[in-house]
Amino acid sequence: MMSIDFSELPLKVADRVALSQTPTPIHALPHLSKMLGTQIYCKRDDLTGFGFGGNKVRKLEYLLSEPLRYGSDCLITCGSNQSNWCCMTSVAGAALGMDVYLVLGGPVPKVDTGNLRLARIAGARISHVDTTDDDVLESAAGELEDVLRARGRRPYRIIMGGSTGLGSFGYVRALAEIASFERTAGLRFSRIIHATGSAGTQAGLIAGSMLGSWPGEINGIAVSRSATEQEAKVRAVLAQTLPRQLLDQAHPIIDDRFMGGGYRQKTDGCNEAIEIFARREGIFLDEVYTGKAAAALIAYGREGRFNSGENVLFLHTGGAAQLFE
Ligand SMILES: Cc1ncc(COP(=O)(O)O)c(C=O)c1O
Repeated sequence: MMSIDFSELPLKVADRVALSQTPTPIHALPHLSKMLGTQIYCKRDDLTGFGFGGNKVRKLEYLLSEPLRYGSDCLITCGSNQSNWCCMTSVAGAALGMDVYLVLGGPVPKVDTGNLRLARIAGARISHVDTTDDDVLESAAGELEDVLRARGRRPYRIIMGGSTGLGSFGYVRALAEIASFERTAGLRFSRIIHATGSAGTQAGLIAGSMLGSWPGEINGIAVSRSATEQEAKVRAVLAQTLPRQLLDQAHPIIDDRFMGGGYRQKTDGCNEAIEIFARREGIFLDEVYTGKAAAALIAYGREGRFNSGENVLFLHTGGAAQLFE
């Protein structure tokens, strides 16, 4: 694996709590490669092998080292009703012996479906706040933290999406897996294309590429914010991760052309990408994140943005439980 000198970093990287089955596979996508006229590969982080898979377990492996060290007895976090993050935190907390409290945004659903159902099965204690405002949700989670503390509990609260400097180390590690695959397979990826939301995944990939001198591009496909707002979010996570001199050299690449009307708003390109991946490659994407990233991949190919002979890596960050909502 690519070696990274963690002692150079501003953040103290705690131990990793191994939950996932990694490295995840990387394999060619033959039909898409033919369709787009270049070599397209997929890193299967939908197969991280814990809970329902996806990118969140990589963040949790770093984040949960802290509550374990502090002797916390419960976790609190927030997100939307169908949050992959909240579902995965529920499973990871339960597996490590901690109660998990979720504050979910949106109306109380009549039936638990998709991620909400999975979180419930994992034993999460769920409350709902009918809002789409992230700040309102975070402050409700903060109030719950105070209440639990007053009752003598030892809660550990994690911000929405787990996108802190510590959480982003999950994707520093994933980048090292990618570099290691390149060495073994004798090829180089020119770029990684993936969905960017709470920004930890992209920040981790960028930090990993800078710390390990990985030369490719990292194309974040925004699913909920303008490129300018998303870039600020990625940089805010990077500020916790990278030494100052490297932070100034970080230039996140973000494309916001594929999010349609915004978070959870469906687009034709996303629907098409979901069908192509399912019907031609046997891979299920989701309508909120990976479908939009795959729509960008397909559009880039059609726009002639890839040189023939380029090896492009699509990072599948999971989330297919959303299809069952
Ligand atoms: C399936 C899936 N893909 C991608 C992302 C985006 O990752 P990040 O929030 O680290 O930007 C998320 C975040 O919720 C997700 O659930």
